[in-house]
Amino acid sequence: MPDVTILGIESSCDETGAAVVRSGQQILSNVVASQIATHQPYGGVVPELASREHLRAIIPVVRQALAEARLTYESVDAIAVTQGPGLAGSLLVGISFAKALAFALEKPLIAVNHLEGHIHAVLLEQRQTGNGELQFPVLALVVSGGHTHLYLAHSEENLWTYDNIGHTRDDAAGEAFDKVAKLLGLGYPGGPIIDQLAPHGNPEAVKFQTSQLKHRDRNRPQADDQPRFDFSYSGIKTAVLRYVETHNLGAAIEERRRAFSETKGPKLEDYLRFCDRQTLDLVASFQRSMVEDLVAKTLAAAREYDVQTLFVSGGVAANRELRENFAREAEMQGLPVFFPSRSLSTDNAAMIAAAAFPKFLAKQFVPVDFSAEAGMALR
Ligand code: KG4
Ligand code: ZN
Repeated sequence: MPDVTILGIESSCDETGAAVVRSGQQILSNVVASQIATHQPYGGVVPELASREHLRAIIPVVRQALAEARLTYESVDAIAVTQGPGLAGSLLVGISFAKALAFALEKPLIAVNHLEGHIHAVLLEQRQTGNGELQFPVLALVVSGGHTHLYLAHSEENLWTYDNIGHTRDDAAGEAFDKVAKLLGLGYPGGPIIDQLAPHGNPEAVKFQTSQLKHRDRNRPQADDQPRFDFSYSGIKTAVLRYVETHNLGAAIEERRRAFSETKGPKLEDYLRFCDRQTLDLVASFQRSMVEDLVAKTLAAAREYDVQTLFVSGGVAANRELRENFAREAEMQGLPVFFPSRSLSTDNAAMIAAAAFPKFLAKQFVPVDFSAEAGMALR
């Protein structure tokens, strides 16, 4: 394995990340500056504020990543940066900085698809634990705030290619977690809060129907007769809203919202103090339905395509119930399933530097005039 050190930069959404990874397997540093405090008062990411925060953070974050790796700018072999998908203004900050570095240092520049980064977070983790050999075909579920996508992943001579066999028709799974948390007055980002609260409620208390998509996606012309496994999560969010209205939870939600707006960084005890049994049951039941739907559809796709290995990555892959449920159900199907560690599941730059390594070996470099692609597809 050649000794290649790549500086990765990630700024597609609300985290500014820089990391140094050696040969796609050894993390020398991985720095993430979170913008949660900036967006919290608005209950979601405000794109304009996100770009400004990236501008503020990018230089110190990159400097810290190099310092922690005990490297200088000159000693890295290449610069990798997220090209898309993501918020255009946020992507531009990382890309402009990476271009300037590559130009000034005369280093190769590598553009990485953010979703490919999430998939390579799994590989990075596996290589660290010495598991370098994987059985193909691989099915990868990328489940985050912006995506719920299923890919068949192939690798040939350092080049990875991906076939999309399913995606969400409306809200992404992480988006549903965030919207439900917001409507229950629990704050932002919703996923980690719901993850912590769910074990305190009864997941069988409320029955939610997740949608069974029988018809074809009208927005996506079918190229061939490949079976598809699409998801849809806007219905469950509406069902939670209807439950809130019919069970008169509005006043308690308002009280909670007020209390949390005055609490700096609420802790689990604070959340529990302001959540009655009915709300905890609702949260647990929502999470159970989300998890069961994600696992059932992914495993159905795994059976249909007869895959040998399953990857689950992206922010929602940090969810404990999702990990437990996937591990249990995939084992029953005799399918090995791999996740990144919880900290590598959410956005970070180590995954971008790891995904860039095979591209470095294949000399897939980009010219300094390449641009951000907010809606970039993974192929
Ligand atoms: O991958 P990520 O950091 O950013 C995107 O690419 O979107 O994912 C962020 C999403 C958010 O929707 C967040 O609520 C969700 O991942 N998330 C979780 C958990 N941690 C983060 N969802 C459920 N359980 C978690 N523990
Ligand atoms: Zn992401």
